[in-house]
Amino acid sequence: MKTATHNSYLESLAGRALLLLAFCWAATDVAADSRFAPVANDKWQAECGSCHLAYPPQLLPAVNWRNIMSRLDKHFGTDATLDVATAAAIRTFLESNAASGKRAAVSAGTLRMTETPWFLREHREVDARIWKSTAVKTAANCGACHTTASRGDFGERGIRMPR
Ligand code: HEC
Ligand code: HEC
Repeated sequence: MKTATHNSYLESLAGRALLLLAFCWAATDVAADSRFAPVANDKWQAECGSCHLAYPPQLLPAVNWRNIMSRLDKHFGTDATLDVATAAAIRTFLESNAASGKRAAVSAGTLRMTETPWFLREHREVDARIWKSTAVKTAANCGACHTTASRGDFGERGIRMPR
């Protein structure tokens, strides 16, 4: 009898904890949004992370990834060609984890996430001078400001603005 009461007390505690968790989840929508689930793919990490950050797939919609992957020989002024099997595996990975929701509001021809409406909106307060500074050089250099970018974390706490 005593155990039963104890159990139901624990159960109601667990229920409350869940409710609280759900509430926090909803309240921290913005913070959750700046963290991209650390999806992992060895080929993608090795091949797409050798010249720059392996940009999280959640940053561009599937059609835009497809367009990037179909033109690797002319990749932003460089040749990033891969063998057919590796390219296909990476393409599948990118497409199946691609942007949805508000980050998907991008025209199909856009190859740069740094030109998407969400990127421009999130960065509208960054001084034009900083983008061109020697520490940053290009907006594509996420890690210059987002110190935790390689973990897929673009949250405010990881930001250190260069001077
Ligand atoms: C040989 C070097 C190299 C490799 C390998 C490479 N890239 Fe790039 N990538 C570049 C350069 C250079 C830029 C232009 C960066 C800039 O504008 O500062 C770029 C830019 C990009 C951008 C646009 C960044 C922006 O401005 O929003 C995306 C997206 C991208 N690469 C995806 C990939 C993917 C996916 C792979 C793997 C299949 C890959 N890259 C492999 C050199 C490379
Ligand atoms: C010059 C520094 C700088 C560079 C480079 C930069 N960012 Fe940011 N980023 C910021 C600042 C500052 C904010 C705004 C933080 C705020 O107002 O909450 C921000 C915000 C963001 C946010 C929203 C974070 C949130 O809490 O909602 C995302 C996502 C993001 N950046 C992604 C990127 C990606 C991806 C790249 C590279 C392609 C990049 N950023 C390059 C400085 C930078």
